[in-house]
Parts: sequence; structure tokens; C-alpha cells
Amino acid sequence: MHFDNILCAVDDGVAGVVLNRPEKRNAIDQAMIDDLHRAMDALEADDAVRVMILSGAGGRALAAGADIAQLRERRAREALQIINARLFQRVEDLPFPTIAAITGYALGGGCELAMACDIRIAGRSAKLGQPEVALGIIPAAGGTQRLPRLVGIGRAKEIIYTGRIVAADEAERIGLVNRVVDDDAVMDAAQEMAAQIAAQGALAVRLAKIALNTSSRAGHQTGTLVEQLAQAVLFESQEKDDRMGAFLERQEARRKTREQPPG
Ligand code: COA
Repeated sequence: MHFDNILCAVDDGVAGVVLNRPEKRNAIDQAMIDDLHRAMDALEADDAVRVMILSGAGGRALAAGADIAQLRERRAREALQIINARLFQRVEDLPFPTIAAITGYALGGGCELAMACDIRIAGRSAKLGQPEVALGIIPAAGGTQRLPRLVGIGRAKEIIYTGRIVAADEAERIGLVNRVVDDDAVMDAAQEMAAQIAAQGALAVRLAKIALNTSSRAGHQTGTLVEQLAQAVLFESQEKDDRMGAFLERQEARRKTREQPPG
């Protein structure tokens, strides 16, 4: 798939999407947003895709935020078009898990995009934050909603009110990222996790994501109902029959080997 502002390729069930404006620290402008929507159109339609890894070209940033030159021109009308929030919501809703592989800056919209992913793996150079208030706006592409879910309301308030940068180690400690590794190991760690996810039951992972997202959005009661319905669907699935059947066959084979008299 060819795009001007991102790279996108699928290999062995793992989609790699790279924000590709390194000279601008991968700042997210309208052209990149349009490319990401087109890429997601293609990935959503491809049943072979099991996981997506999102990263930034150049190693110095996942993304240093929304493009400030474009933001300055936007008025209430554009804010109400929820341009970035809609994209990030779409990322959160993708029918497969997503991993943000972060080296360098993930600021503003870059941090919000990382938080819209299911999992974040960061390099030691990672610097996350929501510096919007310094520019006279707020993190309104999900930042005030997703940050407290990850780090708790007290820490989210501090990070958003001060606009300060959160370094990799602290980000891991407070739950803003899942894991920190050396910068040059970030992609390998993301690929390893992606392969582990891709080896699981596809429908099970997909429905687990829906149940988890429903819980964080709609709360325990609705989340529990979705969880139960998802399990009912899975209990009727071929995938469950095949995977449980294969497990029991392996156990049976092991038992027979054990029971065979030596020699
Ligand atoms: N929007 C538009 N352009 C941006 C950008 C953004 N969010 N972040 C970086 N850039 C551009 C810079 O203007 C510069 O362009 P130029 O080379 O044409 O002058 C280029 O990317 C490199 O940035 P630079 O500041 O020279 O890199 P750095 O490594 O010294 O610093 C940052 C990196 C991220 C600390 C700094 O660029 C920055 O503070 N960016 C804005 C972060 C922000 O407020 N994001 C929230 C937006 S809502």
C-alpha cells in the first residue's frame, strides 16, 4: 500500500504502520490523517490482519503532536468536526489489537494516539506528555478521557495542568506505557508481543477487545453483559472446538506415551 505521509505493510498477520514525516517529528497533519483513514479502511477489510504496530519514522518521535501550523488556523467549526478525536477513536475501535512502539517524543496528539492503541512499548528515550495547555488549548482528542483511565485521575490532572514531559521510566511506573526497553529493542519487543497475540484464537482476541473497551467506556454493568455475550458466541465457534479439541488430543497422546511400557 502506498501513501505519502505514512508507510503501511502487512507481514504474517502483523500490520506495520509508520508515521512518516520525520523532518517534522511526525507531526500529525490533515494529509497524514487522511492517509491513516485510508490505511485503516484497507486493514479493517483484510481478515488476515491480526495485530497492528504503530511507530514513527526517524526514531526521534512517534509524533510530536498535531501539526501546530494547521491547529492555529482551526476554529470552533473545525474543533466540532472532531478531526483527530475521530481518527483516534477509530484506532481504538480497530477489530484487532494495536501496539504503539514509541521512541522519542509522543506529545499532544502523539500521546493521545499512543493511548488510543491497546498497548504501548517504549524505548528509554521516550518522552510522553500533553503540553496543549501551553498552547492555550486542551488535549481534546481523547486525552482528558484516556489518560485518567491509564494513570488515575490525580496523575492525569497533574500531567495535563502542568503540560510536563513524562520520561520513559516514570511512564512505565504509572502505567502510561506497558514496558520500557532499549530504543533499538522496541520494534523487536513489539513484534514479539504481536506474534504472541497473533498465535491466539482470532475471534477470542477480537471479542476480548470489544469487552475490554466496553468496560472502560460504558462501565462494569454493560461491560459484563458484553463479556457474557462474547463468551456465548465463542462457545459456539469453530475456533473453540478446534483449539480445545487439539489440546485434549495432545493430552491424550501424552497419556498414551506415559502408559506405554518401557522398551
Ligand atoms: N507541529 C508542527 N511542526 C512541528 C511539531 C508540531 N507539533 N513538532 C515539531 N515540529 C517541527 C518543527 O517546527 C521543526 O520544523 P522546522 O525544521 O521546519 O523548523 C521540526 O519539526 C523539528 O522540530 P524541532 O523543534 O527542531 O526538534 P527538536 O528535536 O529540537 O524538538 C520537540 C522536538 C517535540 C520538543 C519540539 O519540536 C516541540 O516542542 N514540538 C511541539 C510539541 C507540542 O507542543 N505538541 C503538542 C501539539 S498540540
